[in-house]
Amino acid sequence: MSARKIALSVMGLAFAVMATRGLEAQSAPAAPVPPPGPALVVINERCSTCHSTASVFNQHRSADDWATTVQLMVDRGADLTPDDMNMVIDYLAANFGPEPARAAAK
Ligand code: HEC
Repeated sequence: MSARKIALSVMGLAFAVMATRGLEAQSAPAAPVPPPGPALVVINERCSTCHSTASVFNQHRSADDWATTVQLMVDRGADLTPDDMNMVIDYLAANFGPEPARAAAK
């Protein structure tokens, strides 16, 4: 096999992988329904004043990233006590943690 043919088949393979990923992204399930609980009440009340809660529930983050995000929102003016923050971070990390597929891709 010539070097050119090898290069072409490598490109073909890369394209096939990209195409498959595109399909997966399209058929990805809708945002999961958030389970009820006190943290959900806080999120619905305090995280919906600046943007819809859909922008919270369509995210998937690690506990560290959620802590950073929630802190950022509090810095912006979200009205959460430190207890509220911990509760919300735990809830989001437990229910909206990183997706296995995305975590593996990192
Ligand atoms: C004082 C207004 C305000 C409140 C209250 C607020 N946010 Fe936000 N949030 C913003 C703004 C402005 C943006 C868009 C700018 C951006 O993308 O960084 C945003 C974007 C986001 C995003 C997506 C953008 C990103 O960081 O990737 C998430 C997730 C989020 N907020 C979570 C929350 C959560 C959880 C709460 C409740 C604890 C909350 N927000 C409350 C102002 C607010």
